Amino acid sequence: MNETKKIPVILDGDPGHDDAIAWVLANASPALDIRAVTSVCGNQIIEKTTYNAMRIMTLIGLHVPMAKGVDNPLIANPIIAPVVHGKSGLDGPALPEPDFEMSPLSAVELMAKVISESDEPVTLIPTGPLTNVAGLLLAHPELKEKIARISIMGGGIQMGNWTPAAEFNILVDPQSAKLVFQSGIPIIMAGLDVTEKALVCPADFDRIRAVGNKVAVTVADWLEFFYQFHKTMDYPGAPIHDAVAVAALVKPEILTMREMYVDVETCGDYCMGCTVGDWFGTTGHAPNATVLLDIDREAFVDLLVEAVKTYGEGN
Ligand code: BDR
Ligand code: CA
Repeated sequence: MNETKKIPVILDGDPGHDDAIAWVLANASPALDIRAVTSVCGNQIIEKTTYNAMRIMTLIGLHVPMAKGVDNPLIANPIIAPVVHGKSGLDGPALPEPDFEMSPLSAVELMAKVISESDEPVTLIPTGPLTNVAGLLLAHPELKEKIARISIMGGGIQMGNWTPAAEFNILVDPQSAKLVFQSGIPIIMAGLDVTEKALVCPADFDRIRAVGNKVAVTVADWLEFFYQFHKTMDYPGAPIHDAVAVAALVKPEILTMREMYVDVETCGDYCMGCTVGDWFGTTGHAPNATVLLDIDREAFVDLLVEAVKTYGEGN
């Protein structure tokens, strides 16, 4: 039998509606082998994102080790986003209580354990601030070689969303982001250039809801909630940013990309957290990132619909 090898991955996020949907997609994909999940502070404080991570894992039947991140970004003060994700960080539908205990290890130590015990290099999928990933690289530089790549949701070459120059995940922890972009590990950057085009619209919510199982209905409810914020800014749908970092691994053919050198501004008055992309190669630096620029929106929606179909009635 000629079975394609699964990609071993660690999901690291601050759920968050779009993180949750990214994890639904990752857990449904036969291309990925999820080895661990870690939480990070971002959309909400770490207690809330950790609790949300555990409830999502319970909902989707994802039974792998899970560990909590630290309370604060590396240097910067925390910023949270209740205006987008609600007070809990994942407002909307009721979720099951966690049906498992989290790991006694820290997020960084769990990542290190999984990577060092793996026979093959592991891919990281961070969909929140890069605090844990930077912490891992600082504490365990010897593991760099065993990280195949990092598929990040963060940044934007042409725009910001939390300031005119900076995207939320990078702005929350710019120093960590800089460290990760300069690590030499291959990076896929699902920034706002592409994720603002990954729109899931009300008609798509109906398609997802119609699948009818518990995960499908919950995803539709998450989408409805997430859309409320975007609707106030006249979006035709909700940009499911974080799911693009997963799509880049499981369905790269729906994406347009460009190799580029990207660095992060960590001391600007106006541009703190900006991901500066060397579009024309003027710095002379070799590219360090594959920057995603466009997506086949309909294929992306189809991917989400197919993902929720893989869940049964029990979950
Ligand atoms: C990013 O910010 C968060 O609010 C989302 O979960 C996503 O990761 C988009 O800028
Ligand atoms: Ca996120």
